[in-house]
Amino acid sequence: MSTTPPTATQADVDAEISAASAAYDAELRAGTAPRTQPRLDYAPYRSSRLRHPTKDLHHADPESIELVAPVFGHRDVAVDEADLTIQDGGEPIGERMVVAGRVVDADGRPVRRQLVEIWQANAAGRYVHKGDQHPAPIDPHFTGVGRCLTDDDGGYRFTTIKPGPYPWRNHHNAWRPAHIHFSVFGSEFTQRMVTQVYFPGDPLLALDPIYQSIVDPRARERLVAAYDHDLTTHEWATGYRWDIVLTGSHATPMEQEDDA
Ligand SMILES: [Fe+2]
Repeated sequence: MSTTPPTATQADVDAEISAASAAYDAELRAGTAPRTQPRLDYAPYRSSRLRHPTKDLHHADPESIELVAPVFGHRDVAVDEADLTIQDGGEPIGERMVVAGRVVDADGRPVRRQLVEIWQANAAGRYVHKGDQHPAPIDPHFTGVGRCLTDDDGGYRFTTIKPGPYPWRNHHNAWRPAHIHFSVFGSEFTQRMVTQVYFPGDPLLALDPIYQSIVDPRARERLVAAYDHDLTTHEWATGYRWDIVLTGSHATPMEQEDDA
């Protein structure tokens, strides 16, 4: 994170996002194939300019990686780790919700026994992290982390609290839309994929340089969960459905894993 105070305004960043979007529209009109993954060097997302990769990917020897990668089995992941509202001493504050979906490949086939990990801010938009010191309360009953393994149908399901938006220092008065970070582990660290899920109707989506770094509108909309009343439970929790597509032309956009 930059130590100099951000001076750009939201209007400045909005203008940059609009310019990038217009340039992308021109690319599409010229016949260029859609670019569905996040841009790693996207000027409105300030820190991406300095830390995006500038070298080709390095091919690692998978066998040597496996010697040091963590090994886990279904017995290592407890069922209640998928319920972030089960905490010592009390219940977390906020809108209880279920987020569920499937992890599938390009042909819709289930990706079974995948470790899916999530981390998120609490209802007030605060992380339990020393790097997050903005003046919103920590919830003593919410750690904001959970994990599960996908089932035979590639399904995952978390019970959690709807996260709040939070400020960050990309520019003056910058706020992240509510989101949950997702990691799909694969079978070793080199396969790990990280992304974020958002929620429908959030007015901050249009203003957010991280969401907008996926310049293709249809691709970035694949990161927005759908409200699902069948997943909503009576007097208990609202429900959102979000599928993760790992490959193919409808793949879920994935990111650098240290994004805010
Ligand atoms: Fe975040």
